[in-house]
Amino acid sequence: MPDETFATATHKPLLATVMGERQPRPPMWIMRQAGRYLPEYLDVREKAGSFLDLCYTPELASEVTLQPLKRFDLDAAILFSDILVIPDALGQPVRFEKGTGPILEPIGADDISDLSPEKVLDKLSPVFETIDRVKSALDPEKTMIGFCGAPWTVATYMIGGRGSTDQAAARQFAYEHPEAFSALMDVLVEASARYLVAQFKAGADVVQIFESWALNLDEDAFTAQVIEPNARIVARVRQEIPDAPIIGFPRGAAGMVARYAKATGVTALGLDHSMPLTFADSALVPSMPVQGNLDPLRLVAGGEQMISRAGAIIDGFAGRPHIFNLGHGIVPQTPIAHVAALVEFVKSGHWR
Ligand code: CP3
Repeated sequence: MPDETFATATHKPLLATVMGERQPRPPMWIMRQAGRYLPEYLDVREKAGSFLDLCYTPELASEVTLQPLKRFDLDAAILFSDILVIPDALGQPVRFEKGTGPILEPIGADDISDLSPEKVLDKLSPVFETIDRVKSALDPEKTMIGFCGAPWTVATYMIGGRGSTDQAAARQFAYEHPEAFSALMDVLVEASARYLVAQFKAGADVVQIFESWALNLDEDAFTAQVIEPNARIVARVRQEIPDAPIIGFPRGAAGMVARYAKATGVTALGLDHSMPLTFADSALVPSMPVQGNLDPLRLVAGGEQMISRAGAIIDGFAGRPHIFNLGHGIVPQTPIAHVAALVEFVKSGHWR
């Protein structure tokens, strides 16, 4: 945690924006900014062995966290780790296969009581060391972002055993086994809240809760599976760190986004690229900071269409605190020159 309070940390433009102070130029970072589009990442990844070994080796994870800031004038470093270290630390092993993504042995209704939230912080101690190392190397004007996956998003992998486009296994499980599902949410809320508090204590300035699979849920399921667990995490973290700056990113939540913002108490709201720019002014209080929301594929394609949409986003959010970002994570085939062009444009202040 910084020595000063979050609210007075105005020498960090990105943190100040999350705390509600609009900047003359929007500060920016890029979701999944450390990763496979960078050749220097692929080199370290090769050296590390498995992906989780990389996450659990502070020397390498801190190096990878800082890589994108060496190339681009970004305003924040995001901890290099993964949302699935939580199930791994709870005792449901995770492995990552090339081309397939994460694989877990799917959890059943009877397995929930075997999960051990009390072991999570010990198992994740290398992550806190990574934050500490990054923090000591980071320019004091840059913001250190920590993160976790939101309980629903993490549960979709724990129940389905892998990624899916419709999260059918988890949706069905939640309807068929409401008690087991709610016990799983309790475990994930507790583990995630402790994990975020420990990240703040290790030096994170801001944290983001990735609710990457907030789409596809009906109103009641969204309230129970997304809003309530996110709200509980925010409240639990703030019991220990009262003004903790928290960005909520409910990807795909569409018509439920405004309710999410109000009911969870997040400090700032990440918007995916399907959210219209007029949404913020029509549905959010003027002081609510927003983050986003360029389609990552515009960054792959590059050129005039990318610049013109980035300009429209900056104009569209000009009435409130705004952090420039993509609407979802950067993809591996993104040309580095396009990232450089985007960062230069956002930083230039010449948006028209
Ligand atoms: O943003 C960053 O640069 C920090 C690191 C970070 C990673 N994953 C590293 C990673 C962060 C913030 C995440 C979050 C994450 N992980 C999310 C939420 C964000 C989103 O994109 O929706 C999700 C759903 C996951 C789960 C996950 N991890 C998947 C589905 C995959 C495989 C496919 C993919 O998107 O890469 C991963 C693996 C992963 N996590 C990689 C990296 C750099 C690639 C692994 C490799 O190098 O082989």
